[in-house]
Amino acid sequence: MIQLLAKRFIKDYQKTSDPGVQAKYIALSGTMGLVLNLFLFLSKLVIGVMANSIAMISDSFNNLSDSLTSIIAIAGSMLSTMPADEEHPLGHGRFEYVASLLVSIVIMYVGIELLRNSVEKILHPEQVDFSLLAILILLLSIAIKLYMYRYNHQLAKQFSSGLNDGVAKDSLNDVIATGGILAAMIFTYITGLPSDGVAGVIISFLVLRTGFEFARDTVSLLLGEKPSDELIQEIEDEICKGKYVRGFHDLQIHDYGRGNVLASVHAEIPIDVTVMEIHNSIDTIERQVKQKTGVELVIHMDPSYYLNEPQYDEEKDMKTTVLDILDVSEDEEKIKLAADVIKRGGLVVMPTETVYGLAANGLDAEAIEKIFEAKNRPVDNPLILHVASIEEVRPLVKEIPPHALILMEKLWPGPLTIILEKSKVVPEILSAGGKTVAIRMPDNPIALRLIELSGVPLAAPSANISGKPSPTNAIDVYVDLNGKVDVILDGGGSRIGIESTVLDMTTDPPKILRPGYFGKNFMEELIPRVEYDEGILDEGVTPKSPGMKYRHYAPKAELIVYSAELEDPIQKINKDAAAFQEAGLKVGIMTFAEHMVLYDVDVILNVGSSFDTEQMAKELYTKLRDFDRMGVDVILAEGVAERGLGFAIMDRLRKSSGGKVVEPQ
Ligand code: TXA
Ligand code: MG
Repeated sequence: MIQLLAKRFIKDYQKTSDPGVQAKYIALSGTMGLVLNLFLFLSKLVIGVMANSIAMISDSFNNLSDSLTSIIAIAGSMLSTMPADEEHPLGHGRFEYVASLLVSIVIMYVGIELLRNSVEKILHPEQVDFSLLAILILLLSIAIKLYMYRYNHQLAKQFSSGLNDGVAKDSLNDVIATGGILAAMIFTYITGLPSDGVAGVIISFLVLRTGFEFARDTVSLLLGEKPSDELIQEIEDEICKGKYVRGFHDLQIHDYGRGNVLASVHAEIPIDVTVMEIHNSIDTIERQVKQKTGVELVIHMDPSYYLNEPQYDEEKDMKTTVLDILDVSEDEEKIKLAADVIKRGGLVVMPTETVYGLAANGLDAEAIEKIFEAKNRPVDNPLILHVASIEEVRPLVKEIPPHALILMEKLWPGPLTIILEKSKVVPEILSAGGKTVAIRMPDNPIALRLIELSGVPLAAPSANISGKPSPTNAIDVYVDLNGKVDVILDGGGSRIGIESTVLDMTTDPPKILRPGYFGKNFMEELIPRVEYDEGILDEGVTPKSPGMKYRHYAPKAELIVYSAELEDPIQKINKDAAAFQEAGLKVGIMTFAEHMVLYDVDVILNVGSSFDTEQMAKELYTKLRDFDRMGVDVILAEGVAERGLGFAIMDRLRKSSGGKVVEPQ
């Protein structure tokens, strides 16, 4: 019958997953309950009074309370579907719970009343008139309640409605109660013993129990229950189906009543997928969850793994130990362990303020040879010696000229490498057969402590495979050198991000062979004159520093740099990007945060604000590596004005791109 009525009164009655339709079903069942209960109330009251049966009169009031229940159920479910408003942004779904609580209180009240009257009846038994009409009404009542039980139970299961569940339970109790009255009436008729009051007491306890259980369940819903295991499982399954999700944690579900369940979760996603791509995939998960469970899920993204990383290799991992250093004094033991490796002629990667360095005993030719092997570095490219004090420099060089001493005292520890005439102590292999040696004191407490504990100057080039961008974090080091070095000391991201300024002080005036954080003007405030090596300014001249002649710092992808001097570099990049895409290439653009929206290609990465060259220096190398990780074919990079640190950055970009810099005509 409820189906028939639903067909007649509920629009879209088949869409039973729609919360609006659900609420209408509940309202309809409430209306039916109301009509049936009112009928039962009236008929039992009349017959009960006529038969003088307290049990039957109580039972009629029981039905009246059920009518109230139905009214509250209807009102509750209607209020529940009231849309969210300003004061109640989460909607009114919890009205249903409040209504249920009221219903349970009414039921308990009726229970107490019944109990009182029945005890009265036991103390003062009265004659109950046995009538066939009474028996018939009671039988009809049982039938109706059985029917009510059935449809309420079904709706409760279908829509997981607490209200219908309450009504169903109550209906079943009514069946038992009315059955009890019927039994008592027949018992009294046969034996002549009064039983009306006793039946009443038993019924009232049943009613009280229903009310109490109902109240308990509702309060628990109001307080916020643990969501059902099925719901959790369903949501979890959908999250795991996400294309990029490798794991998740902290799933939280908040139930604001019918059709208004909010949830949030943290999902582990790859670092090397574009924001657009991962956003689409996350959106899909959220939509699927909404469709399948009705839950409004918000996914927080935790970038936590690389999609395109070499797989875990047990053999390599056995050879290389990665040690996290958070605090130099607390982690002294770990640094000592690394120093022991150095003393035994092994290889240790250490963080410095510029980039990570691949260190070995700088006075041990055999150990130094291992550096060249691990990096695959051409043997004609000399290495820098790293010291922890100016005193340590003296035995390594013929002399420290006064200007060199000034720079050491003012700028060390710091990103400045000074080239001086070497002494015999310095192995041939370190200086690649030359007469000079490059020395610097890094401004990083972990590096300084490692040098001190090792007791020797450390030879250390950047800790990358030769030709690749220098590593500015331990992950980039790990990718290049896992399995090739003994220890990697992880000291977090490098503060500066590009290599030290290399200053040749064997000439007068001294020459900058590699620009870096400290520029020409800055150093000229400390010593009279500094010049750039011709190799830096003019590509036609062979650079004096052997390391400057190779293609360097280069990603696998083709890199094209667009000078900031161009009239409209963004327009030019967009034009070229379109052409490359047309040719079927995956294009990446390296830009500044505020320009990201001006492009539309596969991969857009930013190196911070265009006003912040320090940030750009810090991001540069790892971003170049990111493009490779994302399988980009060609990178179009916005250049920066060649002033201050920008000069050093453009020097690196020039080399990374193999000289492919688009300049104004
Ligand atoms: O910031 C840095 O300097 C980093 C960190 C690890 O200290 N090290 C670094 O090392 O960048 P490496 O090897 O990647 O670059 C050293 C540069 C090369 O261009 C090399 O040719 C040059 O310094 N160099 C080293 N010794 C030299 C020498 N005696 N004469 C001329 N150039 C030299
Ligand atoms: Mg290098």
